[in-house]
Amino acid sequence: MTINFSSGFAKNIQNNARQENRQENSQENSQENSQADIHATVSALCVAAKQISHICARGPLESGLGATTGGANSDGDAQKALDVRSDEIVTAALETAPVAYYASEEQDDIVTLDASKPLAVASDPLDGSSNIDTNVSIGTIFSIYTVRKDAKSSFFRAGSDQICGGFFVYGPQTTLVITAGAGTETYVLDPDTGNFELAIADMKIAIASTEYAINASNHQHWDAPIKSYIEDCLAGAKGPLGEKYNMRWVGSLVADANRILSRGGIFMYPGDDRKGYQEGRLRLLYEANPVAFVIEQAGGIATDGTQRILDMPLENLHQRIPLVFGSQKPVQMVASYHDKKSVKINNL
Ligand code: F6P
Ligand code: MN
Repeated sequence: MTINFSSGFAKNIQNNARQENRQENSQENSQENSQADIHATVSALCVAAKQISHICARGPLESGLGATTGGANSDGDAQKALDVRSDEIVTAALETAPVAYYASEEQDDIVTLDASKPLAVASDPLDGSSNIDTNVSIGTIFSIYTVRKDAKSSFFRAGSDQICGGFFVYGPQTTLVITAGAGTETYVLDPDTGNFELAIADMKIAIASTEYAINASNHQHWDAPIKSYIEDCLAGAKGPLGEKYNMRWVGSLVADANRILSRGGIFMYPGDDRKGYQEGRLRLLYEANPVAFVIEQAGGIATDGTQRILDMPLENLHQRIPLVFGSQKPVQMVASYHDKKSVKINNL
């Protein structure tokens, strides 16, 4: 056993599979199969995560994990040895699962594993690459979709179509934060048994918070709404927001998201005026969609500043998107700093 499913997660999958099967798509899987297929795929991802976590735990004893390979992923980011190794581990694990197509941040194109299988998986196999050599939490992010008529249509759809999504964090604990559309749960890898055990059922994000996460060194490049919001946070109790704010920025999306799930707050990676950063830094398919899914299922909100992330159609595989997520009140506040006419938070 790799993951102990004797918890709410199994029930959540069941609910979700039922919803999926209401869709009029003859290629969608049967309910019973959907549930078993999602279990098998999450189990395979857990096997991969255990291997990556083991490599991370050995850190400098595994030579050159943070060394750049000289290559770049399709998005232009320098690839590190652990990025490539993690991608190979996730690919190998998914080959054992009922997965037809694999879309990876580390690969130029969608990989066909076995077109006859029912599921499609998107993944950032190693999130937070810049922290690899610093003994700071990093992780693996994933989304699961049911297959549509071909590889492209299986991924080029809104994130609200995910049937399961989440991320692993390789930190002091190795954890899995996951949703199948009926709440968000955290599992912890028990080092004594090697199993992922349910640790927190039905996570709920605090509605309000005075903690924000942003790479403040980009201040000069931000648009006016983000600049004004952060300046008002910095103004503290005497400023327009009337409260002293605190800042945390790990620089690994999974770790920042995990903290916000635990104690509230807001994460922002807005677009800015630098070349290649107009749509921010994070990818819609591999990062924003799965994070938005677990955040919403825990009662939070995820937007691009104003619009709901999970409603965005995917227009290219490695598309970036400005990302703002977390506690409801600060995320709504950021939306209100943008042009009032364009503000529309769909999931409230
Ligand atoms: O995957 C991209 C990523 O490493 C995220 O994990 C993180 O949120 C972000 O980039 C950090 O960006 P920056 O280097 O600008 O702090
Ligand atoms: Mn990433």
